[in-house]
Amino acid sequence: MSFTVRIEPSGHTFDVESNESVLDAALRHGYSFPYGCRGGGCGACKGKVLNGTVDYGTNLPPALSEEDVSRGLALFCQARPSSDLSVEIKEVGESDNLEIKTLPTKVQKKEFLSHDVVRLYLKLPEIERMQFRAGQYIDILLPDGRKRSFSLANAPHDDALIELHIRHVDGGDFTGYVMDELHEKDILRIEGPHGSFFLREEAKRPLIFMAGGTGFAPIKGIIEHALAEGLNQPMYLYWGVRTEKDLYLADLPAKWAKHLPHFHFIPIFSEQPSATTPASNAQAIRSGYVHDAVVSDFPEGLEKFDVYASGPPVMVHAGFDAFKKHGLLEDRYFSDAFEFQTPKAK
Ligand code: FES
Repeated sequence: MSFTVRIEPSGHTFDVESNESVLDAALRHGYSFPYGCRGGGCGACKGKVLNGTVDYGTNLPPALSEEDVSRGLALFCQARPSSDLSVEIKEVGESDNLEIKTLPTKVQKKEFLSHDVVRLYLKLPEIERMQFRAGQYIDILLPDGRKRSFSLANAPHDDALIELHIRHVDGGDFTGYVMDELHEKDILRIEGPHGSFFLREEAKRPLIFMAGGTGFAPIKGIIEHALAEGLNQPMYLYWGVRTEKDLYLADLPAKWAKHLPHFHFIPIFSEQPSATTPASNAQAIRSGYVHDAVVSDFPEGLEKFDVYASGPPVMVHAGFDAFKKHGLLEDRYFSDAFEFQTPKAK
């Protein structure tokens, strides 16, 4: 059984399953409520029930008093609807600052996605969550005071674990440590969220995503968020890597492309296929610079698009120059490589 929730003052509506909290359903549908712990303890998700009823099981959560209830207040991370609802809460907008937290995390899972890319899943303490926008990044705080920045690869509706894609950088002491010495159950301290690389979803224009290497990570989070929200404008993912063996998790965008008519996945290899590549694969492979592929696929120009680029600064800068010449409006190019004094590990 499901119920319908209407948010005031935005007028957004979404469905909540009977076993789901209002907050979980809102995030699943891409609506950003304020929240902190998602465990009933901090009060950050408190809002008003204007119409309808909610249920908390046997006890009220710690951050909700009887007096709150008598005033019509609810904790949306715990409240399960028992009727259709209308609720009053200020959704978190693009210009709102999210709280930056410093938190210990435990390495829940470490897996190799390719010969040089590791995926880490980090678990936050039971009573903590980190609210973020898809595409933002965190810093890992090293014991000697240095920081290493990595993009969040998961979307906010799927925030039980933090997902990072880490590529081994030659001579990079931290990435070498992650590859060889970091183990599941180890503790990493993180700080975040940071960054302004996130989807401007009000625009509703066709989207081009341009990723280089593990620049796919924040774009994965953004696309998963966009799909959860039901955005259905045309989306084109161009993913540039050196050779086929550098493409990791490629089944995921291939699956999106197979099932969603508005989603297109175009891998681009910077090196020509080798003599050992099977002829059928070699024919299908496009090689060259990823930004050149975008320009050649849209000969009519890029005026109607928003572009999100993430990857090595050289790719991001080349894309900006090429797309601007090809009709893209400057303020419709979003990237994370521009934000850092020292480039983020990609
Ligand atoms: S009480 Fe902390 S997020 Fe709901």
